[in-house]
Amino acid sequence: VTLAPERGVLAGPVFLSGPMGAGKSTVGAALARALGVPFVDLDAEIERAAASTIARVFEERGEAAFRAMERQAALALDPSPKVVALGGGTIVDAVVRRALLDRGIVITLSAPVSVLARRIAGTRDRPLLASRDPEEVLTSLIAARAAAYAECHAALDASGPLEVTVARAEAVVRDPPIVVALGERTYRVEVGAGVASRAAERSGASRLAILVTDTNVAERWAAPVRAQLEAAGARTATVVLPAGESRKTIGSVEEIWDVAIDAGADRGTVLVAVGGGVVGDLAGFAAATLLRGVPWVAVPTTLLAMVDASVGGKTGFDRPQGKNLVGAFHQPRAVLCDVDCLATLDPAERTSGLAEVAKAAWLEGEGAVAALERGAAALAGGEPIATTAAIRRAVALKAEIVAGDEREESGRRALLNLGHTFGHAIEARSGWQVRHGEAVARGMVAAMRISVALGHAKEEHAARLEALLAALGLPRDVGPYLDGDALAYLGADKKRSGADVRFVLPAAPGATEIRAIPLGELRALAPRITSPG
Ligand SMILES: NC(=O)c1ccc[n+]([C@@H]2O[C@H](COP(=O)([O-])OP(=O)(O)OC[C@H]3O[C@@H](n4cnc5c(N)ncnc54)[C@H](O)[C@@H]3O)[C@@H](O)[C@H]2O)c1
Repeated sequence: VTLAPERGVLAGPVFLSGPMGAGKSTVGAALARALGVPFVDLDAEIERAAASTIARVFEERGEAAFRAMERQAALALDPSPKVVALGGGTIVDAVVRRALLDRGIVITLSAPVSVLARRIAGTRDRPLLASRDPEEVLTSLIAARAAAYAECHAALDASGPLEVTVARAEAVVRDPPIVVALGERTYRVEVGAGVASRAAERSGASRLAILVTDTNVAERWAAPVRAQLEAAGARTATVVLPAGESRKTIGSVEEIWDVAIDAGADRGTVLVAVGGGVVGDLAGFAAATLLRGVPWVAVPTTLLAMVDASVGGKTGFDRPQGKNLVGAFHQPRAVLCDVDCLATLDPAERTSGLAEVAKAAWLEGEGAVAALERGAAALAGGEPIATTAAIRRAVALKAEIVAGDEREESGRRALLNLGHTFGHAIEARSGWQVRHGEAVARGMVAAMRISVALGHAKEEHAARLEALLAALGLPRDVGPYLDGDALAYLGADKKRSGADVRFVLPAAPGATEIRAIPLGELRALAPRITSPG
């Protein structure tokens, strides 16, 4: 978070990107004035460092040399508050792009090609344009850079009056979203009070919106979203599912498909999930499969869904053999975590969500765990500022992991399964009576004790994790939950590969790793974890 929200003061840099002619320098200088921070033009920095003009660098040393200088200049920018106008191609370099997204707020400015061409007509010093048709060059540059330009905190149309663009940029800077950077499928997670009121805007111009919700949230939280969509001109149909994990089935998915098809859905139809993780997983899967894929927007209403389930694009449903055994990856178009929704949530459900917050902190490292230890009492009491900050931190970690390993291929995303191998077994064994977060908390305790038994973690790590879970009001008793029947579910875990389970093994904060453990060995270790000491 690069902002101190209580004061609205910028605490880090804002980077303006976009094609030539979009107005990076003009908007940048005006935005810097509005925010009361310095303005930096990256091209000018490069020219100063090279003691030459960019045109001359291109001519004498070639584009590759210029790009290397540009990369160095971008990465060398200090983290103080400022507005930086980047070059049009600066963010094409993936390392630079991800670094800037991480260090500050990236805003992409755009305008129709005809407007861009008009604005740059007559300017010299544009080496990429040298003696070619500007509209043609711009069109192909923008197409080639589309995925890079899409990875930003906000994409703003800058073809209107300067003050309008500056005001829009200021609004983004004062309330920045968290970016899940996935090229042209990039989306943003907005966290705060009242953000659900942006659902219609974030749903795009869909003519038909299918709301998916459950009996506990339909009236209080889904109805206002439906009213918004209708006020924006969309037709709507609503699916109200019975609440609860036991309905996370193919039958519920069929209901969503059928309501959408009967309402005349086409590829432009948007599904809007308003509810907890169950609603989100089902609506996301229905969106992934309906007409081979339609967009969806998540409005999570439980803490668990805000910090975890609604981000990352894993969708699906349960089978009698185990949890989440059928599903698809399908990223939402936007995620709106409206903390106001938590007001009606049962305190036990809120506490359940804190399990995923604890998990994220343990994966992130010492700083996150220490912050959580300090804030545990406020969080356990549902204090809104602490809750908002905890959601942002957990989502930011998940966003970073998902952007780097969307489909759990390199292994890093698999770390997010910490506590879930035993957690899923506990949930399935209980016939979905144990809440997901409560099962995950017990699963983390179990995983840590396995890790101690294998010599990876130390007793002190186990004690610290259990104390943290206790401070958050979460359960730690694994004994009664991991009987032989629960262990039988381990064999149906998705993280199994042949006879091995890809087990997430925690140790000190930030030192979690994945290890292949034979299923038999895991089951044999169970007595050691159910009766510790
Ligand atoms: N896709 C993912 O990456 C991912 C990650 C974590 C968990 N999950 C899934 O999420 C599910 C758990 O999510 P959950 O804990 O949100 O469960 P849930 O959707 O069952 O919600 C819990 C309960 O709270 C009620 N509720 C929801 N919002 C409310 C509100 N604002 N006020 C009052 N009541 C409200 C629901 O009706 C339900 O009874 C599990 O199925 C789990 O597998 C998915």
